[in-house]
Amino acid sequence: MTRLELLRELQGRLERAGKPGLEARFILAHITHTDPNTLAASLFQAVSSDVAEAAQAMVGVRISGYPLQLLLGETEFFGLRLKVRGGVLIPRPETEGLVERALELIRGQDDGIRVVDVGTGSGAIALALKHMRPSWQIWATDIKAQAIALAQENALEHGLEIQLMQAPYTANLRDVDLVVSNPPYLPDEYRDEAPPELAYEDPDALYSGYDGLDMPRELLNQAWHSLKPGGWLALELSPFNIYDLLEAALAQGWKQTQIHFDLTQQSRYLVAQKPWPEEPDEAVLAEE
Ligand SMILES: C[S@@+](CC[C@H](N)C(=O)[O-])C[C@H]1O[C@@H](n2cnc3c(N)ncnc32)[C@H](O)[C@@H]1O
Repeated sequence: MTRLELLRELQGRLERAGKPGLEARFILAHITHTDPNTLAASLFQAVSSDVAEAAQAMVGVRISGYPLQLLLGETEFFGLRLKVRGGVLIPRPETEGLVERALELIRGQDDGIRVVDVGTGSGAIALALKHMRPSWQIWATDIKAQAIALAQENALEHGLEIQLMQAPYTANLRDVDLVVSNPPYLPDEYRDEAPPELAYEDPDALYSGYDGLDMPRELLNQAWHSLKPGGWLALELSPFNIYDLLEAALAQGWKQTQIHFDLTQQSRYLVAQKPWPEEPDEAVLAEE
């Protein structure tokens, strides 16, 4: 049997099970230790029965709902190949849009920029930002030790220097220019209807109370205290609760609030600015 024949069998099995057939290419490349981008050049090579059995077994595990990225042990995020591991959220494509929003917010100023990525998980956001803006000073927090450990491995792998802290929210940092976060934002009740892949994620990375906003609401307070006047907050949220958090942000006094869409036209990113202090009232100054 050739690699091409095996690939077609794997694709067919995945598609009949409702999974993307494209994943077969990554599974075959992984089993044969080939770069997925150059797999095509070797498709007419013969495969041994051991390789065919291993690939079929991996597809079986994938069909049971186990995430492809955990099977491969890695994923790509913003052009960086990142290690992934059970218990730490697998970075999602929509979070690349959050990185793009964050980069837009601090355009044209580079030196001395201080950024905190809250709930860094694998380090995806913090590392993508550092990769794009090497002069920024970037902190990344997470409450989970296994997340900090994985983010550290990914940082070392790419030679990117970020400050990792096992701490909640912004770790009380001050004078920050940008707080960025993909917080846990799913409502608790979503657990009953979630796709099987989510069963392999840490629930604390996904769910945040009745409306999914317990942690993001507190993050509004913590970010307010950490940001400089004029500093920015950029969050990823669910289209189902983003407008509730926008309302809370407006009530708290955040300015320049904007909602941005993701690539599927869903309301996904909330951006807001901590206001500058009011200009002193000239009349009061004159009296003093
Ligand atoms: C949705 S995941 C995001 C992971 C990563 N930033 C990404 O986008 O792939 C949320 C992360 O927030 C962490 N987390 C939950 N509550 C937190 C808190 N109060 N402070 C800091 N991190 C928190 C979780 O452990 C988890 O790693």
